[in-house]
Amino acid sequence: MKLLSPSILSSDFSDLKSQIRIIELGNADWIHLDIMDGNFVPNITFGPLVVEAINRITNLPLDTHLMISKPDDFIEDFYKAGADIITVHQEAVTHLHRTIMTIKSFGIKAGVSINPATPVYTIQEILGDIDLVLIMSVNPGFGGQKFIPNSLKKISELRNLKEKYNYNFLIEVDGGIDVDNVISVLESGADVIVSGAAIFKNENPVQKITELKNILSNFLNERS
Ligand code: DX5
Ligand code: ZN
Repeated sequence: MKLLSPSILSSDFSDLKSQIRIIELGNADWIHLDIMDGNFVPNITFGPLVVEAINRITNLPLDTHLMISKPDDFIEDFYKAGADIITVHQEAVTHLHRTIMTIKSFGIKAGVSINPATPVYTIQEILGDIDLVLIMSVNPGFGGQKFIPNSLKKISELRNLKEKYNYNFLIEVDGGIDVDNVISVLESGADVIVSGAAIFKNENPVQKITELKNILSNFLNERS
């Protein structure tokens, strides 16, 4: 099953409740929460308090993408706020294995993300320990950027490793995805699709989510 994780980054923050309802109405699978600290990335978004507020109004899994310099200091806070998946950046962490074990010690899913300039081999040694790999297909920091085509090569490289060694992690892809390129992302091996601006800058976000969800389910049907 292919999953859709809409990012609220480009949504209307003055009315978060309605934005969450949009995601639920479109039958999306997860909610992607972009946490930025103004240090690891050149932008600031929100922290555990807002995640906790979102957790109170939805039962959808909270897919929490930490674009922060010292994720170890905040894992427990995001866990307590209700995060179901915590993804840290390989580039931000010194002892990645320890960080992954800390996330897993809370009984939630551990993910690792790599930036466009970071090769897949940098996470090879921990692929057997994680639940999710998040391939960034834009440089993190902002919504609405253009998909970097080289990401497709990285997705298939990761999928090949997954098949070769029988790993269980999901491959999630984040940045610049819309209906015109989502199929090539799926064909390369993605399991989870993040989409932000394509959904929330559209005049009918529910319809856009439905459209993307249909592409995801038809992709599997056509190939089974
Ligand atoms: C970028 C974020 C992404 C982004 C995706 O730093 O990690 O999740 O919001 O949004 P779009 O689809 O607008 O690239
Ligand atoms: Zn993200």
